[in-house]
Amino acid sequence: MNDDLIGGAVGPYELVDRLGTGGMAGVYLARLPGDGQAALAIKVLALRSTDRAAQRQRFLREAQMTSRLRHPHILPVYDYGESSGKLYLVMKLIHGGTLAERIARGPLEPGEVAAILTQVAGALDYAHARGVIHRDIKPQNILFDAGGDAYLSDFGIAQPGDSAGAEEAPGFTGTVAYASPEQCRGEELTPTSDLYTLGVVVYEMLTGTLPFQGSTPLAVMRQHLTGPVPDPRAANPALPPGVTAVLDKALAKRPSARYRSAASFSGALNRALYSHSQPEQPSVERIALAASAQPVRPPGPMPDALRLRVTRRLLAVVALLLALAMVAAALILTFAR
Ligand SMILES: Nc1ncnc2c1ncn2[C@@H]1O[C@H](COP(=O)(O)OP(=O)(O)OP(=O)(O)O)[C@@H](O)[C@H]1O
Ligand SMILES: [Mg+2]
Repeated sequence: MNDDLIGGAVGPYELVDRLGTGGMAGVYLARLPGDGQAALAIKVLALRSTDRAAQRQRFLREAQMTSRLRHPHILPVYDYGESSGKLYLVMKLIHGGTLAERIARGPLEPGEVAAILTQVAGALDYAHARGVIHRDIKPQNILFDAGGDAYLSDFGIAQPGDSAGAEEAPGFTGTVAYASPEQCRGEELTPTSDLYTLGVVVYEMLTGTLPFQGSTPLAVMRQHLTGPVPDPRAANPALPPGVTAVLDKALAKRPSARYRSAASFSGALNRALYSHSQPEQPSVERIALAASAQPVRPPGPMPDALRLRVTRRLLAVVALLLALAMVAAALILTFAR
């Protein structure tokens, strides 16, 4: 993809500047002349020479499905098409950068992870319910607006052979660092595969590192297929213990052992992150035990105020007795005369 597209047009759109470059496309700042000059983002893909017809057909089918998705956390696709051998996808332009850029600055706070996962999980469950599988969830495809809200982008447009690892694993779709075991085997992808890749993204957000790494794409794939999930608390000891089990389940090798939906994954992670800091509710048995275990308090020193009151009472009794004795003595003396 070369920058001589800037200043030119793709379909009816004028390309103003380049916003970024991906593995298979360039993303440009674009305008639609006569439309109030509103700024848009347009992704332009060059058709590969080998299987142009299949690539074109698949892109247009996925773009049509994606453009029908309407969710607060899915990046809206406004238009798509083909122009002079180039496929294009017109999206909402947003300015808050990508999750990849955010992770590059270090692990995220648990509160940030929980907020991002809640938004992305809602988007993913919504798409799955409409039969759309993302196929390439990764931090580069989670974008933020200026207010910090997350948007899942690039639904369904990853194509076999597009991504890292394709040379060594023909037919592979997606990005190897985030690929599910079934994706590594080149099998038909399912919503559960998306949940695994979301698990890798959450692991990376919480620890700042990827769970499975290797010097070649095949070495990484082997880790996804057979490697145990490294304890996220080894990379970030501040994480509460429950997070380990949640990520183990999200990254289970067997699809049937994973969470059933992104919302249940998100709910479990929220509980693991926050339940430990809530004061534990005492059970009935715990209260009974606590009551029976009350130690007998040894008598302590008498408080000053109480001591004063006791002293006053004693003095009053002594004075009364003296008075009675004096009265008795006076009566005896009187009658004795
Ligand atoms: N709607 C958008 N608004 C603003 N910037 C965008 C938008 N879409 C993409 N970008 C920018 O363009 C960059 C390239 O995006 P692109 O989707 O082509 O590549 P990628 O996601 O990094 O990799 P891949 O080709 O595997 O999808 C992004 O990292 C982001 O910086
Ligand atoms: Mg992308």
